Amino acid sequence: MKVTVIGAGFVGATTAQRIAEAGLADVVVLDVADGIAKGKGLDLQQAAPVVGHSQRILGTGDYSDCADSDLVVMTAGVPRKPGMSRDELLEVNAKIVTECMEKSAEVAPNSMVIMVTNPLDVTTYIAGKVTGFSKNRIMGMAGVLDSTRFRAFIGMELGVSGEDVSAMVLGGHGDSMVPMPRSATVSGIPLSDLMDQESIDKIVERTRVAGGEIVSLLGTGSAFYAPAAGVEQMAAAILRDEKRILPVSVLLEGEYGLSDVYLGVPVKLGAGGAEQIIEVTLTDEESEALKASAEAVKQVVAEYEAMVG
Ligand code: NAI
Ligand code: 2OP
Repeated sequence: MKVTVIGAGFVGATTAQRIAEAGLADVVVLDVADGIAKGKGLDLQQAAPVVGHSQRILGTGDYSDCADSDLVVMTAGVPRKPGMSRDELLEVNAKIVTECMEKSAEVAPNSMVIMVTNPLDVTTYIAGKVTGFSKNRIMGMAGVLDSTRFRAFIGMELGVSGEDVSAMVLGGHGDSMVPMPRSATVSGIPLSDLMDQESIDKIVERTRVAGGEIVSLLGTGSAFYAPAAGVEQMAAAILRDEKRILPVSVLLEGEYGLSDVYLGVPVKLGAGGAEQIIEVTLTDEESEALKASAEAVKQVVAEYEAMVG
């Protein structure tokens, strides 16, 4: 198996490390700053003997090295600064995504694509448009990240392992995301049996702004450990045909009463990429929140369409 990670920055390099060290695939890391990609690729390859894996890792600035990749992970782009929304990255990142997706689709025409660059649901839309790939092959990573944050916060509040927490966040990767406390459980125990509503509400709110919390703390750049772990989980599901049910940004065509928008919903992930969208019965309130989130994404897509004419 061969995975190309476009962008050798914080998310890209950490993703390359996780994929190689998990033994999932050989990894090509590509960056416009090719020295950085080559340096990090070499550093990762030199770690392999002591870490104990046999994957090959190559840093490059040349798309021909990405030929015939099974999976392309797109992380190239600018991260936000403190106080910025993800949507404010649209103008600069849309250009980067267009360029990188055109080039990678040319050399790896049969690949699956996991988008990471923000604003996530909009860059995933752009990738779908630029590559023309079928919708099962174009997926955005954000729901896994938002959900692991939600799970971690629940674990932290209860003083239990976040691994035992099962909880999903649906919707777009922005302030309008839709955490789903109603279906959250801890080892099968409903969350509402373990926590009062006020604490749940606080965690829901913290989850919505969790990315911004890290941006403020770091001062420069944004989160990368949990995002890279999110990509690894999706990559493993695809490369190992695991049939995991994970929240993924995919093109909706009538599901949840929504159309023509990439949005985070539960998806069965396997060798066929986004193999199936799972439709969960939502309460009226959840359904309204998902619609509002879709509207927020559609507004930024409209800005993009106006921009490219
Ligand atoms: P970073 O600044 O550390 O790395 C970005 C890399 O992209 C740089 O090395 C840069 O040289 C490269 N790059 C820029 N233009 C390029 C081009 N045309 N071709 C190839 N490479 C190019 O940023 P970081 O922290 O890795 O974040 C990357 C993106 O991922 C940002 O847009 C960020 O907002 C997004 N992100 C999304 C998450 C999600 O949940 N979907 C989570 C975390 C980050
Ligand atoms: C996050 O939520 C930057 O979107 C990224 O951390």
